[in-house]
Amino acid sequence: MTRIFSGVKPTGHLTLGNYLGAVRTWVEEDQYRADALFSVVDLHALTVEHDPARVRRLSRQAATLLLAAGLDPGRCTLFVQSHVDEHTRLSYLLECTATDGELRRMIQYKEKGASARAAGGAVRVSLLTYPVLMAADILAYGTDEVPVGDDQAQHVELTRDLAVRFNQRYGHTFTVPRATHPRVAARVMDLQDPTGKMGKSHANGAGIVYLLDEPDVVRRKVMRAVTDSGWGVEYDRAARPGVANLLDVLAACGGGRPEALAGAYASYGALKEDVAEAVVELLRPLRERHAALAADPGYVDAVLREGAERARGIARPVVDRAYGAVGLLPPG
Ligand code: TRP
Repeated sequence: MTRIFSGVKPTGHLTLGNYLGAVRTWVEEDQYRADALFSVVDLHALTVEHDPARVRRLSRQAATLLLAAGLDPGRCTLFVQSHVDEHTRLSYLLECTATDGELRRMIQYKEKGASARAAGGAVRVSLLTYPVLMAADILAYGTDEVPVGDDQAQHVELTRDLAVRFNQRYGHTFTVPRATHPRVAARVMDLQDPTGKMGKSHANGAGIVYLLDEPDVVRRKVMRAVTDSGWGVEYDRAARPGVANLLDVLAACGGGRPEALAGAYASYGALKEDVAEAVVELLRPLRERHAALAADPGYVDAVLREGAERARGIARPVVDRAYGAVGLLPPG
């Protein structure tokens, strides 16, 4: 059976972009067609300055929201990365496989490193080694497929390179994974800046719909979305990115093709009203299930405990084999 691994970083509240772009496919397809592991990758939240209480809160919230969105612990494995030591154990071996040059070439490192320096701060070593830990996340499970957004494609490419290099040096140990980009996923853009992705770590939340936003907040954000100068509702991603984004969201909520939906609207206002209602209705059951689950933290804890146990059971032998392959003396 195909094995899938993907992760969500608890650096911000989950957004409509996370849901329509990734989580919905995990829920509706991946957990049925594959042996899928989904991890709240909390160690990755420590590569930049962070508030410990917030990381803890966002980790629990992300796990709760993934369950609320429909991940079924009877069908897939949901766990918190730091609960399974194999990730950091393997990461070190992969640090001994990667070169500093290839890590310095990572686009995200260059961008985030530059902005940290510009803000007068120091860059943590873990920001540089972060893709190696991500490679460990993936390789520890013999993963075949990694569903990720385009921004992570370079990191999965690095993961493949490390797997191949390790296998060549020390004998076959790792499955070489590949990135997949879900067929139906929508690429949701920031409502205030429709040329940029709706990402959870964004500083200004005005263009971001969070999964737990109250209906009135959702409506306000959608109604204030930036639209384009020009007349009429047309689907044109390059020339009319704001309107195209709204049409994409509407299509993702209700089905139908964005080009066809465009024809139904004479004004931006009418389009926004329908988008707002569609998003509110899409999120309603999710918010309700989240509230019910949040009221039962013991249940969520138990799911995460069992998830970590199962994850450990898969990763342990893979990582032990890697330790043996590089020449570390097994404990007697
Ligand atoms: N780097 C990913 C992101 O920023 C999160 C992540 C960490 C991940 N480890 C992973 C995704 C392993 C897929 C597989 O979104």
